[in-house]
Amino acid sequence: MEYISKSERETRAFAAVLSKKLNAGSVIAYCGDLGAGKTCFTHGLCEGLLFEGEVSSPTFAIVNVYEGGTLPIYHFDMYRITGWDDLETTGYFDYLDRADGIIVVEWSENIHAALPEDTIFIDIKKLDENTRKIIISGGFAL
Ligand SMILES: Nc1ncnc2c1ncn2[C@@H]1O[C@H](COP(=O)(O)OP(=O)(O)O)[C@@H](O)[C@H]1O
Ligand SMILES: [Mg+2]
Repeated sequence: MEYISKSERETRAFAAVLSKKLNAGSVIAYCGDLGAGKTCFTHGLCEGLLFEGEVSSPTFAIVNVYEGGTLPIYHFDMYRITGWDDLETTGYFDYLDRADGIIVVEWSENIHAALPEDTIFIDIKKLDENTRKIIISGGFAL
């Protein structure tokens, strides 16, 4: 499935619609460069799930946990994760086992081998300053 977004607002609204189709245990893996809109999309997912707090890139924390909406969201930034030991310490596998919320992964390229089979891939391409092509694949039939 492909969608062309012409603003940050459209990306958030599109993500909010998608969020309604997610379940506890869903894993979302982004591909896309810096500034593509991965954090913006995550913000929209959070809004769709009625989370009201701040959503920001977990660059230093590695994982941000957003609780209080209809499902918890575990927002990972794997930019600096380079091996299995690193990944283990982030708690990623624990969240995966618990399967009580949605796992969202920025820089998923770095943990490709650790993504479950039914991962939903979201590829965001920057077409110009305010236009993004969002390509969704994998997962269940969305
Ligand atoms: N259509 C769009 N969708 C998403 N973000 C957009 C769009 N147009 C412009 N932007 C801007 O692009 C930037 C995306 O930043 P961010 O979501 O942090 O990217 P990433 O997490 O992929 O590095 C923001 O400054 C946002 O305002
Ligand atoms: Mg980001």
